Amino acid sequence: MAELIEHPCVQHKLAVIRNVKTGHKRFRELSKEITKFVCYEALKNIKTKEVTVTTPVAEATCRKIDTDIVVIPILRAGIGMLEGILELVPTARVGFVGLYRDEDTKLPVTYYERYPPQIEGGTCIVIDPMLATGGSTVAALDLLKAKGADNIIVVCIVSCPEGIALVEKAHPDVLIYAAAIDEELNEKKYIVPGLGDAGDRLFGTSH
Ligand code: PRP
Ligand code: URA
Repeated sequence: MAELIEHPCVQHKLAVIRNVKTGHKRFRELSKEITKFVCYEALKNIKTKEVTVTTPVAEATCRKIDTDIVVIPILRAGIGMLEGILELVPTARVGFVGLYRDEDTKLPVTYYERYPPQIEGGTCIVIDPMLATGGSTVAALDLLKAKGADNIIVVCIVSCPEGIALVEKAHPDVLIYAAAIDEELNEKKYIVPGLGDAGDRLFGTSH
């Protein structure tokens, strides 16, 4: 299932990050800002426990997060979302999946994996700005589940129906949160209208 975050503050920032004239410095800032808003929504159902806190006036019944949160950016572009979620959950642990889309086949190739042991039993948040064919996200979910993760959420910035359908088919237990669900993929498997190559725009590697 995919949930679209339609809040005006998110949609305003999305309009700016999509703009071809937005340079890599502003693109990075906006990736962080949008991620913070989308993750705020994505984490609304995580496990909490009741705690008693003594205020200067009396005892207050409060709630605190009661699960290990492990954030897993898909390299490279997922790195652009890491700071945003860590501002929201500073105690989160971080794992990494390195994947790139083969230019000809458009299929994901895995080149790196490193996770904290808390992926087993904790709440895993996979972050990647683009959910295009869905191949990279499905590959990351396959790798995480093979290592014992069973409570996983996906957060992206721009998604599309084809990618959402692939993830839903392969991993129906995984919820997807996105700031946009765009129309389609083009012949190069880029999201239309999308925002272009997220990794290149984040890191200034485009021409
Ligand atoms: C991009 C993006 C996703 C993937 C999405 O990464 O960050 O990981 O493509 O496409 P998919 O849904 O069709 O698999 P890319 O392969 O360009 O690597 P990069 O982040 O290193 O630039
Ligand atoms: N990867 C990107 O960075 N952008 C797309 O539109 C598709 C895949």
